[in-house]
Amino acid sequence: AYAEHIPKKCPGVGPSLRKSLSRLEYRGYDSAGVAIDGDKEGEVFTYKEVGKVAKLKKLIDESKPDLDASFTSHAGIAHTRWATHGKPSRLNCHPHRSDPKFQFTVVHNGIITNYKELKAFLESKGDVFETETDTECIAKLAKYIYERDTSIDFTTLAKSVIKELEGAFGLLLKSVHYSHEVIAARKGSPLVIGVKTSRKMKVDFVDVEYSDSTTGPLSAEQASQTVALKKLKGNTLAPPDKSLLHRSQSRAFLSDDGLPVPAEFFLSSDPSAIVEHTKKVLYLEDDDIAHIHEGQLNIHRAGKGDGLSAVRSIQTLELELQEIMKGKFEHFMQKEIFEQPESVINTMRGRLDAENKRVTLGGLRQYLSTIRRCRRIIFIACGTSYHSCMAVRGIFEELTEIPIAVELASDFLDRQAPVFRDDTCVFVSQSGETADSLMALRYCLERGALTVGIVNVVGSSISLLTHCGVHINAGPEIGVASTKAYTSQFIALVMFALSLSEDRASKAKRREDIMNGLDKISGQIKKILDQDQAIKKMCQDMLHEQKSLLLLGRGNQFATALEGALKIKEISYLHCEAVMSGELKHGVLALVDENLPIIMILTRDEIFKKSLNAYQQVVARAGKPIVICNEGDEEFAKEKCVKIELPQTVDCLQGLLNVIPLQLIAYWLAILGNLNVDFPRNLAKSVTVE
Ligand code: F6R
Repeated sequence: AYAEHIPKKCPGVGPSLRKSLSRLEYRGYDSAGVAIDGDKEGEVFTYKEVGKVAKLKKLIDESKPDLDASFTSHAGIAHTRWATHGKPSRLNCHPHRSDPKFQFTVVHNGIITNYKELKAFLESKGDVFETETDTECIAKLAKYIYERDTSIDFTTLAKSVIKELEGAFGLLLKSVHYSHEVIAARKGSPLVIGVKTSRKMKVDFVDVEYSDSTTGPLSAEQASQTVALKKLKGNTLAPPDKSLLHRSQSRAFLSDDGLPVPAEFFLSSDPSAIVEHTKKVLYLEDDDIAHIHEGQLNIHRAGKGDGLSAVRSIQTLELELQEIMKGKFEHFMQKEIFEQPESVINTMRGRLDAENKRVTLGGLRQYLSTIRRCRRIIFIACGTSYHSCMAVRGIFEELTEIPIAVELASDFLDRQAPVFRDDTCVFVSQSGETADSLMALRYCLERGALTVGIVNVVGSSISLLTHCGVHINAGPEIGVASTKAYTSQFIALVMFALSLSEDRASKAKRREDIMNGLDKISGQIKKILDQDQAIKKMCQDMLHEQKSLLLLGRGNQFATALEGALKIKEISYLHCEAVMSGELKHGVLALVDENLPIIMILTRDEIFKKSLNAYQQVVARAGKPIVICNEGDEEFAKEKCVKIELPQTVDCLQGLLNVIPLQLIAYWLAILGNLNVDFPRNLAKSVTVE
């Protein structure tokens, strides 16, 4: 009815889709793809590329430079992928098609848990799958259902498809049989619809149709409303009555003068991809199926929808892009701290197979035998990245029995330290652009050493210049204070040590324990994050407005003390010094009295007894330390200290857990001091100057 309002030529959706994809890059991705309707009947342009969205754009520019020209057709779907089923590759990247003619094309977030059964069924009907993904079965299933009844409408078809899917999904479906139409459906994965109209919109909600093929035929009342609406649609000048539209099949968008206005719709799993286009959005609920057709949006239910509202109200996004990217958190640093249960899994995904006791680091595989024979391994980094190297030094020495050196890049260069052809130099960097580390890398390359990069940012200078390496896959880190990159670097390095020692039978039991520990680490981090509010209170009561703070640890936990002290200094501006507890009696003890705040890391390990000496020295001088210890450790009496109790893991992984409360302390001290958490004074995220 409203087709006449749709411009015959509208700007291609290509640029909008690619821009929106790049807005999603902050969530982490390994590949990206688009499918856009062409002008001719049945024409679909699909492009997929591994890596950044910029690489996808390059591919499109090279293959079809006029893709962004105006098309009369204006539906497209796009996706950034983070591999779950199937490795990152062009083939596995979305959109996925039902067949080479693109009869159905789909993008999907989530996991279809019964995809193997669906795949087996479709294969038994003659389908040949071309990818390793769970998503492909959705497109093929749609084609299968369509072929059984080619007169079926798109919504009914989508309902039949969704009825068969188990698991979680947020998906978009397109078809050459329903050109200009898009289906969006969700169950367990978010989907938001942005609505943009050329004229001011009056409506503030969209009705939901509950009577459908899955819930039974229309009731008499609903049927009459539908008929009324159909009549109404015949006369585009008469403003529809809201009561008539209630529970009806369709909803047009009306301008202030009551005329229907065709809308543009932007569908995404994340509002950050939409906010540039429109701030008017509505959130789909589980089991909603949205059908977009010629400037209209209809929402139907796949399930019964008992207890659900009959409308999806249109809300205005008040947030700016940066804020949306922060999600429910106040600051990026806070978000990144709380992301760690997920980011550590992303670091291990596809690499650690705890069940079969295997670690596979594809980027190092060819070089492992050379590294095993090297004269020494030198870790070179700055700041937090240096601390992650310190944190794994012990386990590298133990598992590889190769001499290990850990160097601050600036100091290494100042000394012009000797480097040889049979050295392996490992460069650890979140940004991959830190000037000191980059210069040290060039220095080592000139001397013929083998170089390895442990980097977060894909395509960064360090990842390009090193011979081989591992991407830590922590996802973009925006807060200047590094948090999730630290835990991911730590894990990537432990996996590196595990790979180097895989041929050592004497280390088999130890390796197994570490792999089992890594397998549980995400859940343990999550549990520690539950102490957030208790830690906030402790900061208020004991640390806020103090002038100075000592952080004590030894063995593996000295690195944790260094990292905790750096976090506290850089964002709360409180002077905080990390002290190796064995060194306390050699001088620093003079500072200790009943007033100096002290945090002591006292989780159980081989050297626990020695660590206790420092605790006794502090308590004997009337100090009341904050003790980070294992859950239920009775060694520490309540009246002598304040405890932060953490789960126990393998000794060499305990630092992954112990650092979490220190990150939270740093965060809350900065908040209490009313400071700029994400962008502390004088600091930059990427230090590209010497
Ligand atoms: C501290 C912090 C810095 C960086 C250092 C190295 O929170 O972020 O100390 O760790 O500037 O940066 P990358 O890891 O990017 O080389």
